[in-house]
Amino acid sequence: MSDRDKTVILGLESSCDETAASVVVNGRTVLSNVISTQIPLHTLYGGVVPEIASRKHIERVNQVITEALKEADTTLEDLDAIAVTYGPGLVGPLLVGVSAAKAIAFAKNKPLVGVHHIEGHISANYIEHKDLKPPFLCLVVSGGHTHLVRVLDYGKYEILGRTVDDAAGEAFDKVARAIGLGYPGGPKIEQKALEGDPDAIDFPKAKVADHPYDFSFSGLKSAVLNYINGCKMKDIAYSEADIAASFQKAVVGALVDHAMMAVEQFGENKFAIAGGVASNGAFRRAMEEACEKRGVEFYCPSKILCTDNGAMIGAAGYYDYMKGRRDGWDLNAVPNLALGER
Ligand code: KG4
Ligand code: ZN
Repeated sequence: MSDRDKTVILGLESSCDETAASVVVNGRTVLSNVISTQIPLHTLYGGVVPEIASRKHIERVNQVITEALKEADTTLEDLDAIAVTYGPGLVGPLLVGVSAAKAIAFAKNKPLVGVHHIEGHISANYIEHKDLKPPFLCLVVSGGHTHLVRVLDYGKYEILGRTVDDAAGEAFDKVARAIGLGYPGGPKIEQKALEGDPDAIDFPKAKVADHPYDFSFSGLKSAVLNYINGCKMKDIAYSEADIAASFQKAVVGALVDHAMMAVEQFGENKFAIAGGVASNGAFRRAMEEACEKRGVEFYCPSKILCTDNGAMIGAAGYYDYMKGRRDGWDLNAVPNLALGER
């Protein structure tokens, strides 16, 4: 491949509690993927503290970018564009990434490309699956989002359903807190569930009336809290492992049911998952089995590319860049940015 066929993008991500930078070639080849996580810091408070997150992003962003360039043996001059998450997410953290990207783009006279965070999660699938091209179905499940999406083309989405209350990851985090496992809840519940019986407690799989593709997880979270309170009031011992396993089974069941309903309705033969919750082993296995049963090709990013990272922003940014997206110096953080909005 000559250098002319190579489009080199620096992807920056800082929407929540990871400061991340990555150098990605042609949206699919990752030369470096540096992630500085703040999880241990926020664990002290049981969740992400936005002010502290912003401060840490400021402290780390330049170092993370320098490391990503060094690891990729690339200089700022070699870059074709700077891609950055500009929403949705926490406004302070987003502003740090957006400001860093603008500064580099301005100083080096490079194009600036604003990327939607969920589009980034979806695009993480392109990195390790070189054969994956739209159209396909995708379930994006993270701490802030639960979206069932038809990916019609690069950057073109139809949202079939979303959560009407808590996101799936948020439910994991809240239930983990209730049973004293700490933050972030997802990996801790997954670990605890290994020792428990998923059929021990029959937690509900909520449906949303008249909106079959929408999700609701707050009822499930309340059912877990009620179960714990009921046990406490009656002075009955309860098993944290059984609660974790039964809760995880209910979430995974709801996700897989919705996903397979879409497969049947749209006859799509490719299904991808994305977002932090997509790193959950029970969810990955259940989706793989359900897809296999229906002859549907199943895709998921490796676990490190499911949670927030810069490579997914570099991948999404490449397709946005190729479609001609260029942002100006007025690019701003948009905390509640909708998918497909510009
Ligand atoms: O994608 P992500 O890093 O950030 C957002 O965009 O929100 O997702 C973080 C979320 C957290 O709620 C975390 O508890 C959840 O993903 N998560 C998991 C697992 N690992 C992370 N949930 C279930 N099982 C896991 N192994
Ligand atoms: Zn995310």
